[in-house]
Amino acid sequence: MHRDIDRILISQDKIAARVRELARDIIADHTPPKMLGEPEVTIVPILTGAMIFCCDLIRRIPFAMKIGLMTVSSYPGSSLRTQGSQIIGQQLGDVRGRHVVLCDDILDSGGTIRLVVPIIRELGAASVKVCVLLRKDRPEARDVHADYVGFEIPDEFVVGYGLDYNNYYRNLPDIVTLKQEAIDRH
Ligand code: IMP
Ligand code: MG
Repeated sequence: MHRDIDRILISQDKIAARVRELARDIIADHTPPKMLGEPEVTIVPILTGAMIFCCDLIRRIPFAMKIGLMTVSSYPGSSLRTQGSQIIGQQLGDVRGRHVVLCDDILDSGGTIRLVVPIIRELGAASVKVCVLLRKDRPEARDVHADYVGFEIPDEFVVGYGLDYNNYYRNLPDIVTLKQEAIDRH
């Protein structure tokens, strides 16, 4: 697996430092004086890509929270570009009146966030915030709002730290680009 790496774009140390900062921002936005009293928060990782990011993030957030799950598929088959997002499973619990923080690995075309945010609002959440580890520089996604962004990256295909190619490479600890021969092989 490691010989498939072309280059390390963001090292695990940099990721860990930035995840701590994102947690601090989320804590600040969900505690007084920004909010009255103890808000009821539900964190929702968008699976499978946000799994590792969300696990690290929530362990830096000390207040009471519930976890909801949503599985969205945007890359059916082996593809480097989204084919359109669809929800293929959810286990959100009751989000009525709750402050929801959606967590995704990467904001690329923006299709996933455009799909999911209105659904959570319609379910009666008190607020919906979007937290993404990465945001790609894509013109068609410039109008898509994210409240917390870990890193802005160029429009390159990356894997690792939860991000996959054809469901491989999620367990790489750094965010990396792949050699062309690895992409061809999978
Ligand atoms: P969007 O719906 O186009 O914004 O894309 C979001 C989803 O596409 C992410 O949650 C990822 O699962 C996937 N994705 C987008 N870009 C990449 C990438 O560079 N590597 C791996 N997955 C990606
Ligand atoms: Mg994803």
